[in-house]
Amino acid sequence: MDSRVLVAYATKYDATAEIAEKIGEVLRQAGLPTDVLEVDDVDDLSSYQAVVLGSAVYIGKWRKEAVRFLKANEKTLADRPVWLFSSGPAGEGDPVELLDGWRFPEDQQDIADRIQPRDIGVFHGRLDVKKLNAVEKWMIKNVKSPIGDFRDWEAITAWATAIADTLKEELS
Ligand SMILES: Cc1cc2nc3c(=O)[nH]c(=O)nc-3n(C[C@H](O)[C@H](O)[C@H](O)COP(=O)(O)O)c2cc1C
Repeated sequence: MDSRVLVAYATKYDATAEIAEKIGEVLRQAGLPTDVLEVDDVDDLSSYQAVVLGSAVYIGKWRKEAVRFLKANEKTLADRPVWLFSSGPAGEGDPVELLDGWRFPEDQQDIADRIQPRDIGVFHGRLDVKKLNAVEKWMIKNVKSPIGDFRDWEAITAWATAIADTLKEELS
């Protein structure tokens, strides 16, 4: 196994990609060689010593390519330290409170239980109405969602720093 960390993500409009890049940047700055890849671009998961996996949330679900990745790689993931994150909630305040305690899709909870992630992070997302299709615009209007970029870079950096600290201790 290589001594690299993988940050894999699923995104539709890039907000989650940028969160993944930030996590990768923090891990690299902490001295951990890290690749940041879209889930469909991951070739050989078994070569990574640890994995951070995140997806944008749409109507309470992870993106289908992230679900596919989880299902296809469950055994390899269960064998390594893994951190999961969901990104989505719009608005100010604690992101988990904005989602009434939701962290991760119920449909994949059994897989998460088997993988036993070290943590499941939840990060605010970005809603850029200009990018959305007509149905999405209608849905967002219908639920009166706040609009804007609510991503909390401090919270993301703190979460990634804690991962770096754990990995450096465990791998040293
Ligand atoms: C149609 C639609 C449905 C959404 N549903 C949810 C949801 O159920 N929960 C949530 O937290 N965020 C939801 N969001 C917000 C997105 O997750 C958020 O915009 C996220 O940052 C998008 O990430 P991406 O740019 O990586 O695709 C929704 C957004 C749209 C447009």
